[in-house]
Amino acid sequence: MLNIVKAFSGVLAVKGVTLTVAKGEVMALLGENGAGKSTIMKVLSGMYGVGSYEGEIKIDGNLVRSHSPQEAARAGVAMIYQELNPFLDMTVAENVFMHDFPVKNGMVDVKKMNGETRKLIEAIGVDIHPTMRLRSLPAGQQQIVAILRELHIDAKVFIFDEPTSSLTKTETVKLFEIIRRLKSQGKSIIYISHRLDEVFQIADTVSVMRDGYLSGEMELDHGNSEAQMKQIISWMVGRDVKDMYPVNHAEKGEVSLSVQNLTIYDPLSGDKKIIDNISFTIRKGEIVGLAGLVGAGRTEILSTIFGCYKGVSHGTILLDGKALEIHSPREAIRENIALLTEDRRANGIIAQMSVEENITVPIWRRIARHGVMNRKQELDIARKSIQDLLIKCHSGKMRIDNLSGGNQQKAVLAKWLNTEPRLLLLDEPTRGVDIGAKVEIYQIMNRLVEQGMTILWASSELPELMEISDRILVLGNGHICGDYKNGEISQEAVLALASGAGGE
Ligand SMILES: Nc1ncnc2c1ncn2[C@@H]1O[C@H](COP(=O)(O)OP(=O)(O)OP(=O)(O)O)[C@@H](O)[C@H]1O
Ligand SMILES: [Mg+2]
Repeated sequence: MLNIVKAFSGVLAVKGVTLTVAKGEVMALLGENGAGKSTIMKVLSGMYGVGSYEGEIKIDGNLVRSHSPQEAARAGVAMIYQELNPFLDMTVAENVFMHDFPVKNGMVDVKKMNGETRKLIEAIGVDIHPTMRLRSLPAGQQQIVAILRELHIDAKVFIFDEPTSSLTKTETVKLFEIIRRLKSQGKSIIYISHRLDEVFQIADTVSVMRDGYLSGEMELDHGNSEAQMKQIISWMVGRDVKDMYPVNHAEKGEVSLSVQNLTIYDPLSGDKKIIDNISFTIRKGEIVGLAGLVGAGRTEILSTIFGCYKGVSHGTILLDGKALEIHSPREAIRENIALLTEDRRANGIIAQMSVEENITVPIWRRIARHGVMNRKQELDIARKSIQDLLIKCHSGKMRIDNLSGGNQQKAVLAKWLNTEPRLLLLDEPTRGVDIGAKVEIYQIMNRLVEQGMTILWASSELPELMEISDRILVLGNGHICGDYKNGEISQEAVLALASGAGGE
């Protein structure tokens, strides 16, 4: 890609970037939220067609001028997008063959389609069936299907835009196997991620973007990762990041949240218990982390407290001494509870509305007087959030779905913070968020507990969960198999406990 320039209504998102990837090379494309990574890749994938950008694209030396993703695919480009738009009511196989259904006698050849899909699935070794509806699959497996869809096209260049953000550890291992196989077939791979540890596992070279420019490039020398990591981070944020994990000094008060004898059943198979009779308390000013493997029930605990769990649960939940009867998010919000869900596309944003409106939705009732919105107050609150959380947008009036992925996440967080909850529930709050903004989110969490709020959260990034939480509860087999203060236990020990291999 030579000297690519891309603007949105006059605002430059990519400001003259040149990227090259060799055959058999995995290039990691890194940079903060809003740096322009997805945008330049959408230029390559034909989503932004020729005429809408400046610069040239060449594959094997030949100029490529695509007007659409279909044309780009024919030229050899396959892209797995950051924001998925799967067809939920269609089957896995139909999603895979979306753009080129096999036809026999004028009809879709369902047998062939399912068979080919089965082959692809077997090659990866995941537990999915071609005829399952996409809706019935968890987010991670939907992502795998999106990957299968691109794999069955015989492309030369594969683009993965934050593919692992909703994948489990095992699915990630599978994905890396796929990428290594593509590499050995001489394909070129561009890999976007905010997880630097992954980048060091899979990439050969790194290109970093900052503010629409290319700010640095290097070849990874795997022996010297610490120094290289530092260099990459400073290319990303333009400065050194100190104090990745700020310490909170909040005073701990009375018990705020008390969960007693909570049992949560699997919504699919009636009497299987995901959580089996657990009890715990959290004091005012405390940050408590839920640790556990995928499927340990972290999300289920959070959504049960918030009243949006789809299955059956029973137990007693008390907030500041009062027993709660919560059956819907509306009732939870009334009790000053907020939940940031892990799936922001499905539950977090209202795509057609502006950034400002999205941020202030839950507090409209509060800032409306006699049914009339106080526009100025709404704007002030929204502007302050945009500033505090470093949400990158040219204007608060922009549609939220035009923000970069990580900035959408920050806007959803801002929305919930503005409800000034007593109890804040966070499910994977830093997913897809860049390093600078992660630190920002930790600082906000600390500030909130210093004001007497209570936070219960889950994150699959164990280092942050363990550093930021005052206490962590380790979940395994439906039980709480450990309750540790910050610093009392190692990551390895948490993992061993959670997988049931830890013995004592
Ligand atoms: N359709 C659009 N209309 C207007 N602005 C846009 C549009 N798409 C992207 N932008 C802007 O372009 C800039 C770059 O966004 P992009 O999505 O490329 O960032 P990114 O590097 O992929 O970030 P992230 O890590 O958060 O995914 C952002 O400021 C974003 O708001
Ligand atoms: Mg992006």
